[in-house]
Amino acid sequence: MIKDIQSEILKLKKEKNAVILAHSYQAKEIVEIADETGDSYALSVAAAKHDCDAFIMCGVHFMAETVKMLSPDKRVFLANSGAGCPMAEQMDPVMISQLKEKEPDRAVVAYINTTAALKTVCDVCVTSATAVKIVQKMENNKILFIPDCNLGSYVQKQVPDKDIKLLQGGCPVHASVTLTELKAVKAQHPDALVLVHPECRPEVTAEADYVGSTSGIMKYAMESDAKEFIIGTEMSITEHLQYACPEKEFYYLSKKILCPNMKMTTLMDVYKTLQNLDNGKAFEIVMDDEEIRKARVCIDEMIRLGE
Ligand code: 13P
Ligand code: SF4
Repeated sequence: MIKDIQSEILKLKKEKNAVILAHSYQAKEIVEIADETGDSYALSVAAAKHDCDAFIMCGVHFMAETVKMLSPDKRVFLANSGAGCPMAEQMDPVMISQLKEKEPDRAVVAYINTTAALKTVCDVCVTSATAVKIVQKMENNKILFIPDCNLGSYVQKQVPDKDIKLLQGGCPVHASVTLTELKAVKAQHPDALVLVHPECRPEVTAEADYVGSTSGIMKYAMESDAKEFIIGTEMSITEHLQYACPEKEFYYLSKKILCPNMKMTTLMDVYKTLQNLDNGKAFEIVMDDEEIRKARVCIDEMIRLGE
């Protein structure tokens, strides 16, 4: 049944000259039919290289917006219209503009998990894979980092010579994991290495053997000689790793790290989006040129500094 839907999707994708992008938090059956998979940075850069008529994003809304901004002439669809990242909506562009007016010499660094409207008032974007490198490379020594205070606090520790101000935002899924939980899993698997996403709380990242983006965690685990790992990011990463490396053991840091938004997209959503590309029933990302122009400034800056 799953294989049948997958082969229908592959057929339709070819007919419509569409490219499927899947964030690594997607389920295995979706990753299998994707043309590009990876973390949010890798997806945004990879998409711009494709010559196609449409992109279908299997992920959350801000990711589809980023693809639209980088490929404004292409049609971009979000496979499930309800999939949004709650962190992306946490900060109000007007409030951030007011903070900028008060401290004009403080550059605003926005995690890519933000709306396009918020990006229009920011100076540079970062992803979890590039945040430290970009903040290090910026000429500015005074920074306001939004919205994720856990990622921001991780960057503060890696770049102690800069004055980095944080606001109280973050990922409710990763931030739900406590140090007590980490200690309990570690007690059960004392030989396992702990690999966590920087969206986790500072007391959790402080105990980790490796802190990195979803792709960083996957690469580290695949290349490591160690045999056991506790994975502190969305549960699908633990599953993808266990499937890719059957000779190693992967444990969930917590079964609470399940992102309901990332898990909304189903194979049937992808199939229906492809079927409905031209009849107005699929969820297309529509942005006006002015918003794209303004929001793209900080994405282009991210790509320039991230290279
Ligand atoms: P990555 O930047 O690692 O892809 O993470 C995106 C995300 O939403 C993490 O929760
Ligand atoms: Fe947003 Fe967190 Fe889900 Fe990532 S895991 S999409 S940051 S809510």
